[in-house]
Amino acid sequence: MKHVLSPLDFSTDELDRLMDLACDIEKNPQKYAKKCEGKQLATLFYEPSTRTRLSFESAMLSLGGSVLGFSSADSSSAAKGESVSDTIRVISCYADICAIRHPKEGAPLVASLRSGIPVINAGDGGHQHPTQTMTDLLSIRSLKGSICHMTVGLCGDLKFGRTVHSLIHALVRYPDIHFVLISPKELQIPDYIREDVLKARGIPFEEVTDLEDAMPKLDILYMTRVQKERFFNEEEYIRMKDCYILDVEKMKLAKQDMLVLHPLPRVNEISVEVDEDPRAAYFKQARYGKYIRMALILTLLELA
Ligand code: NCD
Repeated sequence: MKHVLSPLDFSTDELDRLMDLACDIEKNPQKYAKKCEGKQLATLFYEPSTRTRLSFESAMLSLGGSVLGFSSADSSSAAKGESVSDTIRVISCYADICAIRHPKEGAPLVASLRSGIPVINAGDGGHQHPTQTMTDLLSIRSLKGSICHMTVGLCGDLKFGRTVHSLIHALVRYPDIHFVLISPKELQIPDYIREDVLKARGIPFEEVTDLEDAMPKLDILYMTRVQKERFFNEEEYIRMKDCYILDVEKMKLAKQDMLVLHPLPRVNEISVEVDEDPRAAYFKQARYGKYIRMALILTLLELA
């Protein structure tokens, strides 16, 4: 049984097959409309979510399956003190596959050790978010034509942003990717990513604080929200929250074919006028999130 805990659980060949399947699903949804009849997806969300939970649920429903679950820790037995291990043992009796989001790093891994069904990490604290990465890769491949030879700017909260951590892990496996890491000093990527992933693999990267300076060289700009819920003190969050705001003026500095991605939700970091720019791809990206999750469910249930 395969679980998805990290973006590295799939090889680049497996990811290619997954993305091919997602593209076929997008083109021929009818062909897949009954593939998961009789199957159930459980969504165990101990942290807030809109896109991830609903795109998983929409994915399963569009495959003819059904869904069950909870959308906050308060409405589950976690509020009574039940452990993730016990919850997953029980859910394994009710569902065929589950997606779990939890504020503690490693909780989906703990769940997978006790699970009788495939476990998908739908975000664990400030650690990883592999299905967002699959969404991001599919967005890049679909909108840019391939995932290679490009300069990728990652901007905002690189310290706590799990989507950034997963995306870096995944992208270093593709040829000729150069990173520009744009953040305030306080929100730089964690050491384990700088040392064990980027430096260890000899990946070209630079760490900068200025977004304007970086703009002209980027092929992709991946904006992120400052992760309020992971700050230890509110003052620090308030000081950081508007550190970068992508606006129409800054977009003038960018290449004509640069893509702007964002895992969403957006707070202030992209002004709404940018939405009209053809290079703004974050709502398309959210659409790809459903197709890749459909492909993932089919693959993990061995129905592909
Ligand atoms: C992200 C997350 O939960 O990490 N959202 C998402 O799943 N699309 C990004 C965020 O919350 O900032």
